[in-house]
Amino acid sequence: MGWPLLERFPAVQAMAPVALCDLPTPVSPLPDIGTHCWAKRDDVSAHPYGGNKLRKLEWVLPEIRRQQARRVITLGATGTNAGLATALLCQREQLDCHIFTFPQPDSPVVRRNRAAMRAAGAILHDHRSLLSAALGWYLHPGRLTKGHYFLYAGCSNPVATLAYANAMLELKQQVDAGLCPAPRDIVVAAGSGATVAGMLVGNLISGLNSRVHAIQVAQDRLGPFSVCNARLVTHMARQAWQQLALPEADFRTDSLHWHDRYLGPGYGHPTAASRDAITTGQANGLTLETTYSGKAFAAFCELAEHTSTPCLFWQTFNSQPVTLPANDTPTD
Ligand SMILES: Cc1ncc(COP(=O)(O)O)c(C=O)c1O
Repeated sequence: MGWPLLERFPAVQAMAPVALCDLPTPVSPLPDIGTHCWAKRDDVSAHPYGGNKLRKLEWVLPEIRRQQARRVITLGATGTNAGLATALLCQREQLDCHIFTFPQPDSPVVRRNRAAMRAAGAILHDHRSLLSAALGWYLHPGRLTKGHYFLYAGCSNPVATLAYANAMLELKQQVDAGLCPAPRDIVVAAGSGATVAGMLVGNLISGLNSRVHAIQVAQDRLGPFSVCNARLVTHMARQAWQQLALPEADFRTDSLHWHDRYLGPGYGHPTAASRDAITTGQANGLTLETTYSGKAFAAFCELAEHTSTPCLFWQTFNSQPVTLPANDTPTD
């Protein structure tokens, strides 16, 4: 049942997603957090590298192929998970990969990801600020010539959003099969926004009707531009709705619950709550990190304490071991 979205919307079949993932991803209980608590394990979405990006890349790769691009140019923080997923895809597809980066606080995951991106052949263009990296990406001369595919941060774009509409239909099938209860609440990290945007659409079309809690992990704006906020996510969800040719009047985002208080000092800055959540997660078999999933899991644990109805943590961070050539192994 890789893409229930295609069965539901035959017109979308033309997008021809490419199988990169092992779907469906498992749902597993989190009994020590609460008997009503569950996790959707996108950490094992794919080999050799899982997480939420691989679901998106299944929908992005056919677009890259259709455009006959030979080079993918993307944008992310210094230790970007999306950059690593893209670099590994490019290596597999024999495409050049260029990544414009902006600073984030150093961490073992950041160092490991950078070493792994380089080992996969990606060229990193390090900039001193988000503004400068974004300008490098937006104003790249390759935009004027053929053969370049520009992939926004987080592997997010309109087709990528459909991956998480599909993922919600997948969850609904698991609920219907009795593998987990229908979640009243779903908690997920929101960075570039396509994951939660797709989930909002999937929430409506699947009939799950959960409350979707988006945990903001990045600054909301950069000058006049939206970076990570509810307005942007709503816009992305509406775009996905339109791609599915659904009636405008049926579009709603009242299931979106936006939380900005887990961000702390900023993107990639660990908070006390995220550190505690990482420890709790580890004791419950979840591999989490400080930038995204630790903050989201902190929110989940707090919510779980205050509710007794089924709630589900959407685990978006890869947990497969990232192997590096011996001489590329970073020191902690
Ligand atoms: C581990 C992890 N979780 C969550 C997210 C957020 O997903 P999105 O960028 O689609 O909002 C990211 C994105 O970079 C991520 O790397």
